[in-house]
Amino acid sequence: MLAPELFRRFSDLAHSRAGIALKEGKETLVESRIAKRISALGLADAAAYADYLDSHDGEEIVQFLDVISTNFTSFFREPDHFERLSEEAARWRAEGRERVRVWCAASSTGEEPYTLVMTLHEVLGDSLDWKLLATDISTRVLDAARRGRFAEDRLRGLDPALRQRYFTAAPQGPGETPEWQFRSPHRERASFGRLNLAKPPFPLSGPLDAIFCRNVMIYFDAETRQGVVSEAERLLRPGGLLFIGHAETLNGLRTGLVLERPSVFRRR
Ligand SMILES: C[S@@+](CC[C@H](N)C(=O)[O-])C[C@H]1O[C@@H](n2cnc3c(N)ncnc32)[C@H](O)[C@@H]1O
Repeated sequence: MLAPELFRRFSDLAHSRAGIALKEGKETLVESRIAKRISALGLADAAAYADYLDSHDGEEIVQFLDVISTNFTSFFREPDHFERLSEEAARWRAEGRERVRVWCAASSTGEEPYTLVMTLHEVLGDSLDWKLLATDISTRVLDAARRGRFAEDRLRGLDPALRQRYFTAAPQGPGETPEWQFRSPHRERASFGRLNLAKPPFPLSGPLDAIFCRNVMIYFDAETRQGVVSEAERLLRPGGLLFIGHAETLNGLRTGLVLERPSVFRRR
């Protein structure tokens, strides 16, 4: 297991660069996650990797953050949020809104942003100018998300009608496992970019109609969470919605956002 001092070097780095709080007890997890970087770089051990990070900061930090952060996600995860968004989208359409902008702030490998595209398209169709911006700190997950190809098992549980409308079987080489491609032109509704939630102010222009920032603040300390929430409040238009993960809370943070229901907040 990583010695406490060595663990502290990695946890300090995760904290200062990405706001990620790696608490004591995560030594084995960190050790197993950095193992692939150590072997990819041909280094002797974790101490050599810590030194390498110090001397090759710019190139390696992205890879480091990539391996230590958890990327778990799925289509329609926490489904009540998408039902809530559908209701809101129906209201936008009824109001005759011409422009809608939604931000998915820790988009991982694409399941969440494409769920948002499906949800919005089901209600708004192509009737108005709507777009989704998806960001993440990890370039690896962003590349996967942009590609929009998913193994068969990732689509398990997805409504067959949605699968039919939004996915097409990807060309499959011999011996390759079947994959499904999120279809154009729906795929082009989403644009992807790198954004570090621990470094406000964010280079985005509002006003945004909804922000999905789910299952990422759980890894952050209070100061980083405060930065995210203040930025969300700045970027949302009045009446706009912030969705956070079911296991997350804004308790203890300064915010003018109003709790609408657990894990859904509205800007006044
Ligand atoms: C557990 S996944 C959640 C994905 C999705 N939001 C969901 O709820 O299914 C957390 C994501 O947050 C990203 N992440 C971690 N720290 C971040 C930071 N400082 N800025 C932006 N994204 C970050 C990770 O790369 C990962 O893709």
